[in-house]
Amino acid sequence: MQPRPFSMRPARVKRLAVFLGTAWLAWAGIFAWMAGREAAVESPPTPAAGGAELFERHCASCHSLDAMRAAAGTPDDAPRRKEVEQFLDGHSEATADQNRQILDFLATGHAR
Ligand code: HEC
Repeated sequence: MQPRPFSMRPARVKRLAVFLGTAWLAWAGIFAWMAGREAAVESPPTPAAGGAELFERHCASCHSLDAMRAAAGTPDDAPRRKEVEQFLDGHSEATADQNRQILDFLATGHAR
C-alpha cells in the first residue's frame, strides 16, 4: 500500500487516536501482568512459611505447636523423622508432601 499524505480529516484522526489509545492500554496491561508474574517468581513462599500455614490448617485444631515441635524431633534426627512421617501417613488429612512441609517447619522451628 502506498503511503498517502497525512490529512487532518476528523474521522481519520479519531480512528488513529482510538487505535493508539487501545494499543497503549493493551501494552500497559501486558506490562503490568508481566511485572506481577515476575514478583511472584522472585518471592516464592519459604518452605517454613508453607509448613506453618499447613500446620495451622491441618493440625492446630488438635495439637499445640509446642507439643508438635517436641514430637517432630530435630532436623538431624532421621529415624524419628521417618517414624513420624509414617505415622502421619495414616493420621494426617494432608498429603504426604504437605506432611513433609509441616515436619520441616516443626523440626527447624522457624519463626512464623
Ligand atoms: C482431629 C484431631 C487431630 C488432628 C487434626 C491431628 N491430630 Fe495428631 N493426634 C491426635 C490424637 C487424638 C493423637 C493421639 C493422642 C496423642 O498422642 O496426643 C494424635 C497423635 C499425634 C502424634 C503422636 C504424638 C506423640 O506424642 O508422639 C503426632 C506426632 C501427631 N499427632 C501429629 C499431627 C500432625 C503433624 C497433624 C497435622 C498434619 C495432626 N497430628 C493432626 C489428633 C489429631
